[in-house]
Amino acid sequence: MKVKVERSLSSPVILTFSKEDTLSAYISNGGFETLERFLKGGKRIEILSEILKSGLRGRGGAAFKTGIKWNAVANAKSDKKFVVCNADEGEPGTFKDRWILENRPFLIIEAMTLCAYATGASKGYIYIRGEYKNAIEVMKNAINQAYNEGFLGQKIMDSDFSFDLEIRRGAGSYVCGEETALLESIEGKRAQPRFKPPFPVEKGLWAYPTVVNNVETFANVISILKNGADWFRQFGTQDSPGTKLFPVSGRVKEPCLIEANLGVTLGRLVEEAGGLDGDFQCALVGGAAGNFIYKDELNYPLSYETLKEKGKVLGSGAILVLNKNDRREEVVKNILEFFINESCGKCTPCREGYPVLLEKFKGYLNGSISKDEVLRLSNLMFKTSLCALGQSSKFLLESYFGVVL
Ligand SMILES: Cc1cc2nc3c(=O)[nH]c(=O)nc-3n(C[C@H](O)[C@H](O)[C@H](O)COP(=O)(O)O)c2cc1C
Ligand code: SF4
Repeated sequence: MKVKVERSLSSPVILTFSKEDTLSAYISNGGFETLERFLKGGKRIEILSEILKSGLRGRGGAAFKTGIKWNAVANAKSDKKFVVCNADEGEPGTFKDRWILENRPFLIIEAMTLCAYATGASKGYIYIRGEYKNAIEVMKNAINQAYNEGFLGQKIMDSDFSFDLEIRRGAGSYVCGEETALLESIEGKRAQPRFKPPFPVEKGLWAYPTVVNNVETFANVISILKNGADWFRQFGTQDSPGTKLFPVSGRVKEPCLIEANLGVTLGRLVEEAGGLDGDFQCALVGGAAGNFIYKDELNYPLSYETLKEKGKVLGSGAILVLNKNDRREEVVKNILEFFINESCGKCTPCREGYPVLLEKFKGYLNGSISKDEVLRLSNLMFKTSLCALGQSSKFLLESYFGVVL
């Protein structure tokens, strides 16, 4: 996959053009310097406050502030705590986390270790999508090298801090990426979401306080701690600081992964991906849990807050471009079928709702059902489903019909 960078300022935060999958390459680019600085005299509170000040928001879809999560776990009173990296990446059209794992595995190891140091955790897991065989292999080798060279395990870099890290292979369903289902899966149970609250920061893995962050979220941490929160805030927007990895595919000439400032326009990303293949119709932004963005929105900034103003979401940042020959309704049907297959069945609105929603949508297409009836059901599912899998068709269908309820 081709990798491109579109940004107005200096060096990229996450992407590098040289592969850093060997320990020597990572170290020669300043790798593990940040960990060493903190383990040899830096204070935990500095890590926590810098991440909070940076305004970094989770890149896994929900965009929750990372600093708040880390502080909550750091402040929790418990003799055991965990750090978990969500590398399940099941969102259709999303391939950013795989790129990071395969190309910058040590960046994730260093970030997770610093997170553990800051929050008081002693054990971490990287939960990697089962189909990502190469990423699992690369990550396994990287963890072994890090253990051999004293960057993981007992008394890391001759300090008093110890941290163990293990890989868990994803159990194979889309819902495994939902953070509490993922924790169930690590515990050896069937991956079904838990009721929240309590949130993982209070009761996570085996009911201990747990940080769960996406791969891309962790990938921002070292740059923030190296260069400071103010540096990070130069990029992106006030409420969505930093850069984002956008996997761009579909009807573009050069499908690719682009790192861009949050707030970049869809038009700019399409241009960077080699331009359109055909006449632009719309883009599905955020994968199956996302929504459509149209021609009149090509110059609209893509950030968490700007999309929220429109009743839309950025989600994983995946962008699937459709041209005039593509049938949007087929995309919607395909996604609803996907949700029927992937529903874990734990709650009624999602399990029973999706098959009915698909039939209603087909009914709308053949003229027998009004769009209001379709939207009423997706709205009801949004309000009553246990996790975002059952809730997200609201965004898809509202953007399909061009209304916001
Ligand atoms: C059905 C479903 C699938 C999800 N899949 C993923 C995923 O593959 N990777 C991910 O990081 N987050 C996924 N999430 C979001 C996680 O529940 C959670 O918000 C995220 O891991 C938190 O990390 P962050 O704060 O760094 O984004 C999913 C959520 C739902 C409801
Ligand atoms: S919304 Fe769907 S996937 Fe989520 S818990 Fe309910 S049945 Fe399972």
